Amino acid sequence: MLALGLTADLTALLKDLYKRAGLAHAACLSDRTNRARSSMDRASDYGSEGWGFNSLRARHHHMGHPVAVQELKARLAGARAVAVLTGAGISADSGVPTFRGADGLWQTHRAEDLATPEAFARDPRLVWEWYNWRRELIATKSPNAAHYALVELERRVERFWLITQNVDGLHPVAGSQKLSEIHGNIWKVRCTQCGQVGTNRAVPILIPPRCPTCNGLLRPHIVWFGESLDPVDLERSFSAVRSCEVLLIVGTSGIVYPAASFASLAKEAGAFVAEVNLDPTPNTQIVDVAIQGRAKDIVPVLL
Ligand code: APR
Repeated sequence: MLALGLTADLTALLKDLYKRAGLAHAACLSDRTNRARSSMDRASDYGSEGWGFNSLRARHHHMGHPVAVQELKARLAGARAVAVLTGAGISADSGVPTFRGADGLWQTHRAEDLATPEAFARDPRLVWEWYNWRRELIATKSPNAAHYALVELERRVERFWLITQNVDGLHPVAGSQKLSEIHGNIWKVRCTQCGQVGTNRAVPILIPPRCPTCNGLLRPHIVWFGESLDPVDLERSFSAVRSCEVLLIVGTSGIVYPAASFASLAKEAGAFVAEVNLDPTPNTQIVDVAIQGRAKDIVPVLL
């Protein structure tokens, strides 16, 4: 079963924290970190100014370079099978904070206190207060042009699948249907007693929320660090990534697994892989084209 994980530096930090906290799943991070480590090393060779035409495979372009945009647009227009992977960066233009950006959630909050099953067992009220704060924030946000452009791409492409790490629910609000929310959805709750999953859009939510069927304690229906992803979502995502002609990656730092393995998996399966992101990431060295810029500006012009 694949659990949610991170890159080398953060992994080392968390492994140390987990070890000190005696949490079970350090093992699941180790072998993946080595691969991340090697790609991070490669990324750091270039340094911020060195972005240009270095690697034999990857071509990197700043700010929606017309050549790269034209090439990606042509690839998308000619493809019969397209997979898309999104992260917090696609919702940043809607005003939803990212996790690791300058104003990122993990800059001001400790993941191990808020986004692990152990944290919830220790203090469900604290965890729910944090998710309530995020729900209140997200409730005021709307999809942006990048979300809507992906709805249009879904309409145009014969075999399309959208895989998002985001729990903000903005993709379904925009109209995306061929979608796997692999880390869950902040508007869904799950009973810790009977396991029933339901939708609860109350803002604020009554803390602690109770199951309408068995009165058990409800938890956010979100995949926390060290927890396994839903096997159906995972299988659906892997098969889309392995069978696509084009994989488009938008707004993710590419350090949390298993999603961080998708670029190389698609590449190994012969797909054309492209990244649209504000900053360089470990994926930047794997993809065929990397376009640096804001999702709301770049994704719509790819259609
Ligand atoms: N347009 C495009 N990219 C952007 C924008 C933007 N407007 N704003 C930020 N970005 C990029 C950042 O450069 C960064 O690389 O989006 C990325 C966001 O990275 P993270 O904050 O790490 O978010 P994400 O990759 O989605 O995190 C993965 O980690 O904390 C867990 O489960 C959580 O799903 C989350 C997972």
